[in-house]
Amino acid sequence: MAGTDEAAAAVTAAVVDSFRGTPDPRLRELLQGLVRHLHGYVRELRPTIKEWEYAVEFLTAVGQKCDPTRQEFILLSDVLGISMLVETVNDQSGGTESTVLGPFHVVDSPSRVSGDNVDCIGAGTPCVVSLRVTSVDGGPLAGASVDVWQCNEDGFYDVQQPGIQPLGNGRGLFRTDDEGRLWFRTVVPSHYPIPTDGPVGRLLDTSKRHPYRPAHIHFIVAADGHRPLTTHIFVADSPYRDSDAVFAVKDSLVVDFPCVEDPGKADEYRVTTPFRMAEFDIVMVPERNDGGR
Ligand code: BEZ
Ligand code: FE
Repeated sequence: MAGTDEAAAAVTAAVVDSFRGTPDPRLRELLQGLVRHLHGYVRELRPTIKEWEYAVEFLTAVGQKCDPTRQEFILLSDVLGISMLVETVNDQSGGTESTVLGPFHVVDSPSRVSGDNVDCIGAGTPCVVSLRVTSVDGGPLAGASVDVWQCNEDGFYDVQQPGIQPLGNGRGLFRTDDEGRLWFRTVVPSHYPIPTDGPVGRLLDTSKRHPYRPAHIHFIVAADGHRPLTTHIFVADSPYRDSDAVFAVKDSLVVDFPCVEDPGKADEYRVTTPFRMAEFDIVMVPERNDGGR
């Protein structure tokens, strides 16, 4: 006989109550809320025992796929839109919008100075990216750190191609100058499929979802007295701009990468013509007194 709604509600109430002694009030709130929502899912959809076992096997496979350079749990959070939801509820108005971290920020970026080339291969279309970091009042933020990572023109990050790309290719840790500016040379990144050779790939395949992300460059920006920012810029004319597999595109982060033919500009930026150029302002929000959350 199927269990009654009353019996199910009693299980939920007991489990919520079991966390009432959690000393940290925020942890208590998060745990009790998790139980309420997970139990709500089960009570609404009534998975069979077989379906639950399948779910446990799936999550086990997700964990087993993780290693120091592969984070399948982040990937799962990404394709379920949870990563993007967490970013969105934490966005502060007035600043540059945030977006997902993704699973490829797994090695330290090499320290570089403004003007450096983050592309160690030298095969693709040259590209110049020029950034200016300010506070919400428009004042430049000197000495801000900007951690950059991107895939190559074929859509692969360095960590995905050991022996083909040197570690550090497409990556750089920069600091802004007195005007809050920095620029670097690179190649235009490609759109790419997120890794599909694991359980998350099977999930997408089973649901007939495509795995592609539009072309983008990642940044983590940190400036004294300001909230750290994790974001990307998206290449405006990239495929999949309207159907990112991880739901991370925000209109304010879409940037034109026009083609530049001017030899004077090419000399200025130490590249050859034609090259692509992207300019983007990053606005940081001052730290608020929120107890570190
Ligand atoms: C990335 O942009 O690196 C990424 C984000 C989410 C899933 C896979 C890759
Ligand atoms: Fe990426």
